[in-house]
Amino acid sequence: MMKGPLTPYGNKPMVTPIVNSVNYEYESFEVLRQITDGEVDGYTYHRDDNPTVRSVEKIIAQMEDAEDCIIVTSGMAACTMVFLTYLSAGDHLILFHDIYGANYKVSLILERMGVEITWLDASDWPLVEKHMKTNTAMVFCETPTNPLCKIMDIHSLAQMTKKINAMLVVDNTFATPFHQNPLKLGADLVVHSATKGLGGHNDLMAGAIAGSKSHYDALWFTRQAIGTTLDAYSASLLERGLKTFSLRAEKMASNALQIARHLEHNPHISNLRYPGLESDQGHETAKKQMHNGFGGMMAFDIGKTQEDAKKFISSLDSIYHAVSLGSTETLICIPYLTTMLYLPSERRLGFGVNANTVRLSAGIEEPKTLIADLKKALKAI
Ligand SMILES: Cc1ncc(COP(=O)(O)O)c(C=O)c1O
Repeated sequence: MMKGPLTPYGNKPMVTPIVNSVNYEYESFEVLRQITDGEVDGYTYHRDDNPTVRSVEKIIAQMEDAEDCIIVTSGMAACTMVFLTYLSAGDHLILFHDIYGANYKVSLILERMGVEITWLDASDWPLVEKHMKTNTAMVFCETPTNPLCKIMDIHSLAQMTKKINAMLVVDNTFATPFHQNPLKLGADLVVHSATKGLGGHNDLMAGAIAGSKSHYDALWFTRQAIGTTLDAYSASLLERGLKTFSLRAEKMASNALQIARHLEHNPHISNLRYPGLESDQGHETAKKQMHNGFGGMMAFDIGKTQEDAKKFISSLDSIYHAVSLGSTETLICIPYLTTMLYLPSERRLGFGVNANTVRLSAGIEEPKTLIADLKKALKAI
């Protein structure tokens, strides 16, 4: 982890100070010029930049092996800023059904603004090249996907997009930088909901976009224009979360693998997707592009009906029935009723989000407690 910046306190504080100031008194017109010309890393107004936010940007840039990173108010602010910064009317965008649900809402806004969109099943990623057009400007994907944990080959997708000068953007929220670095595999930008594993404690919302210095400049322009700069307090919480990030990520992946192995042969469970299982369709690709394990997320169908899934979830004691993911606690939800609720029903069912599909995010509890809880709830079906 990077050390904090030099400060005027004599000694350096161990924790980056929370700078709540919205504006800054100009030392002189010369200092103002140096800041606006980008000669010094100085601050004038919170919508432009904030030192607490800047500190956490540098840490996440390092984690993603990026030249720089821009932090914003939420994961969806990050996704939307990517679309707003790089797409114009007449451009073609390729999206996948199995990406976080709110992107569907954003897609409706983009279409209204004249962006042409093709939706593909995430399992059909090898067909991306076939669906590219002369006006394709961007392919935006997640791997593992939310919620079904499907895996796409980032390096192969990057080769396809490079051929026509389109951008490849990877939402790395499910994998986290502990397991996967899309920029190293050829992606142009990596996006995070830092609300999830990076923050890790269900107590802040933030988004991150990491990439080259020129991408940072372009995205900074958008953030400064529309005002999606994160507040300093949330940035400080995020920086604290990052101090234990790798410990948490390692434990989540180990818990998830043990849970998946336990559930794999249970007769009440079907369509189990966890990329760490040798039987998973995405395992070979995941092995190639992920490291330190396969993350804390999995999806599976319970029994035959939504009532079965509801009965199962209602019988859990230690595992929380809640949305979000990547937190210290193990969380479970029915995406059909929550994260994918906004999608027309036929779209959810058409790509595998069934009425009884559940998504589980492994926390950092003792695995035997979690497995005992799941065992007990499975008996309730
Ligand atoms: C993969 C993924 N991307 C983006 C988001 C949106 O993040 P936020 O809730 O921080 O806006 C989420 C939220 O669950 C997500 O799972």
